[in-house]
Amino acid sequence: MKAITVRQPGGPDELVLSDVADPSAEPGQVRIAVTAAGVNRADILQRQGFYPPPRGASDIIGLEVSGIVDAVGPGTTTTLRPGDPVVALLAGGGYAELVVTPVGQCAPVPQGLDLVQAGGIMETAATVVSNFAHIHVHAGETILIHGGAGGIGSFAIPYAKHLGLRVISTVGSAPKAEHARTLGADLAVDYHGDWADEVRQATAGKGVDAILDIIGARYLDANVSLLARGGRMTVIGLQGGTKATLDLNRLLTKAATITATSLRFRPLEEKTAIVRTVADEVWPLFESGAIPLPPLTAFPLAEAGAAHELLESGRNIGKIVLVVRS
Ligand SMILES: NC(=O)c1ccc[n+]([C@@H]2O[C@H](COP(=O)([O-])OP(=O)(O)OC[C@H]3O[C@@H](n4cnc5c(N)ncnc54)[C@H](OP(=O)(O)O)[C@@H]3O)[C@@H](O)[C@H]2O)c1
Repeated sequence: MKAITVRQPGGPDELVLSDVADPSAEPGQVRIAVTAAGVNRADILQRQGFYPPPRGASDIIGLEVSGIVDAVGPGTTTTLRPGDPVVALLAGGGYAELVVTPVGQCAPVPQGLDLVQAGGIMETAATVVSNFAHIHVHAGETILIHGGAGGIGSFAIPYAKHLGLRVISTVGSAPKAEHARTLGADLAVDYHGDWADEVRQATAGKGVDAILDIIGARYLDANVSLLARGGRMTVIGLQGGTKATLDLNRLLTKAATITATSLRFRPLEEKTAIVRTVADEVWPLFESGAIPLPPLTAFPLAEAGAAHELLESGRNIGKIVLVVRS
């Protein structure tokens, strides 16, 4: 089959279209003929050599696909049959014509979406839904969502609004602020300025009940200072580094919580449960139009390098997918 491989860790030019062996579906797995593969920031880190796949996973980049079931592993108990359209969460392998994944990580395609649109919806939805559950967000609370115009933010903002939260989001430019507001953000704050002060003022000094953080170390101090009493923060991205100093007294005095999760490294049972929740609770929101699909930019599989360049440039709004076959 054709797949994108990494010649050597480095820039987007290192992504090349190659011939590799077809994967075969093992017991408990299905093989999917890929229509579209979502492009995620983690893919850039993997290309650069900083984010190796979990043990046993394909070393081909790609954490989510849409496509058609092509084979079911021997002895696998599933209602899926060859020819069924699916959306799937992967531990790797998406930038390819064929990919295998556990049956539990497959979900039906939301009604009304074509397979190209569906290629970029699973990873963000699964990440946001599982993290919102992890930090127990409630209607009426205020959440700070960093990076509101990115792939994660473009789902997290409307989903948080759907759940009845007040949303404050950080963004990097005026067009991205406009995008975040269109998605429902009550306030979009430019992260180039004193965003923490703006958030503090917008909450009358109380701070926020929840934070979805993608920056990590660089924002730790400001994020902790912004947590209200009983506030909860989940760190899902480390774009601003991994190591910082934490004054535990600030957590202690306001009974605040910090957690961090990585979807890719969760065990199969957790991923299965998350995918089921996403299919049951999020797909109907796309189907009814209660939550808009993120703006989508599509590249052919062979242009994976150009897709990575666009994501790294910071110019993109929403999601990027690679179209493997139309
Ligand atoms: N832990 C997990 O399971 C998991 C799963 C999926 C994604 N993630 C992480 O979530 C993050 C977002 O992923 P993505 O796919 O949405 O990537 P993306 O589409 O490339 O978005 C990156 C976002 O980072 C924002 N950003 C850049 N510098 C910033 C700063 N100084 N302050 C605030 N925001 C800043 C960008 O804002 P502008 O565009 O406005 O500049 C953009 O919204 C990545 O770090 C990714 O690794 C984690």
